[in-house]
Amino acid sequence: MSDVRAAALADRSEIFALIREMIPGIDAEARWRWLYETNPGGQALTWIATTGHHVTGCTSFFPFRLWLDGEVVRAALGGDGYVRPAFRRNGIGGALHDASRHAMPAHRIGCMYGAPGAMNVTPLKRGGSCEVGHVVRWVRPVRAAALGLRGPLLGSFTVAPSGGAELEAMRRHDARVDEVWAEARRDLRLAAVRDAAFYTWRFLEAPTRRQRPFVIVERGRAIGACALEPTRGGTVLTIVDLVTVPGAWHAGLRAIVRYCAEHTRADRVEIKLFANDGRRRHLWRLGFTERESKPFLCMIPTPGDRRFLDPDRWYYTGADSDLDTLEVQPAPRRPVTGVKADRPTIPLPPA
Ligand SMILES: CC(C)(COP(=O)(O)OP(=O)(O)OC[C@H]1O[C@@H](n2cnc3c(N)ncnc32)[C@H](O)[C@@H]1OP(=O)(O)O)[C@@H](O)C(=O)NCCC(=O)NCCS
Repeated sequence: MSDVRAAALADRSEIFALIREMIPGIDAEARWRWLYETNPGGQALTWIATTGHHVTGCTSFFPFRLWLDGEVVRAALGGDGYVRPAFRRNGIGGALHDASRHAMPAHRIGCMYGAPGAMNVTPLKRGGSCEVGHVVRWVRPVRAAALGLRGPLLGSFTVAPSGGAELEAMRRHDARVDEVWAEARRDLRLAAVRDAAFYTWRFLEAPTRRQRPFVIVERGRAIGACALEPTRGGTVLTIVDLVTVPGAWHAGLRAIVRYCAEHTRADRVEIKLFANDGRRRHLWRLGFTERESKPFLCMIPTPGDRRFLDPDRWYYTGADSDLDTLEVQPAPRRPVTGVKADRPTIPLPPA
């Protein structure tokens, strides 16, 4: 028989152990400091399951400030959901989500959301989450090589727009990001607050620093902010986030495509967005095509604010993730002879 309870600080070492099992090779202390303690949205809320004397699993809420119809509300990204293999398929995952849902009013969390890994979809639904929509991956070739055209000159031939806005590295607490956000939010109905505090924490203070934030500047004016990560061995430039002042979204995207062609060796760029959102933004006009999708789930308390369940309100990107890299973790250090080897490095589970 399993028991689920809110975790206390004294459970920290058990949670570290669960995180290390869930994401082999991770620096659990660094993840804790970044995601559990210093998130500007608030400290993490964690629930743990025990079976007899064994800690068998955990799940967490990472508070995110959301912009909802013109005001900032408290919500949370769901994450670090894990049940030890020997105890799976006994309802523990669902019970952890159920416990977190019951605690939402006490913590003033209006909504918990995310695009979970396949194994967590049913447990989340059993715990009270609803499928609100689908998140789609959109891809655009940047070099002829991405179209299957090879050859010494042809493969590097770029198919990127010329002229326009430029990308400049973002500084910590960059006032330009606050300026962009103050305008951008006028166009957004439901989205994570992307101010300078969020961008600094989410990208510049993240443990791996693989997702680099930029300010998009056109004729001296900041028109957007974005975060980019080279993925799949550098062959893809993933747009983790893009936010722009009203009317500049395509200009921002064009600037990123050009940056990709001029400053990276990636063959293509990609971005994940809600299916309807990507279509509404006419991504095809910039040469993007739609690829696979995954479900997006939301959990609200009872009674809750049903605006969170409206797929047409959401602006969701890779910024809404508890992972600070989409790539495999750095390889563990070479084992010293006679000392037990680290676990093998494997890809991170999807957010
Ligand atoms: C996701 C996880 C926490 C669920 O824990 P759990 O205690 O097994 O969950 P529950 O017992 O409440 O629910 C089990 C249900 O999950 C679904 N499920 C289990 N394995 C699955 C798989 N490989 N693919 C898809 N669905 C799966 C089934 O619907 C199963 O129900 P069933 O046993 O009646 O068929 C656990 O599988 C886990 O730790 N997975 C690895 C880490 C992970 O993927 N975390 C989520 C990241 S978003």
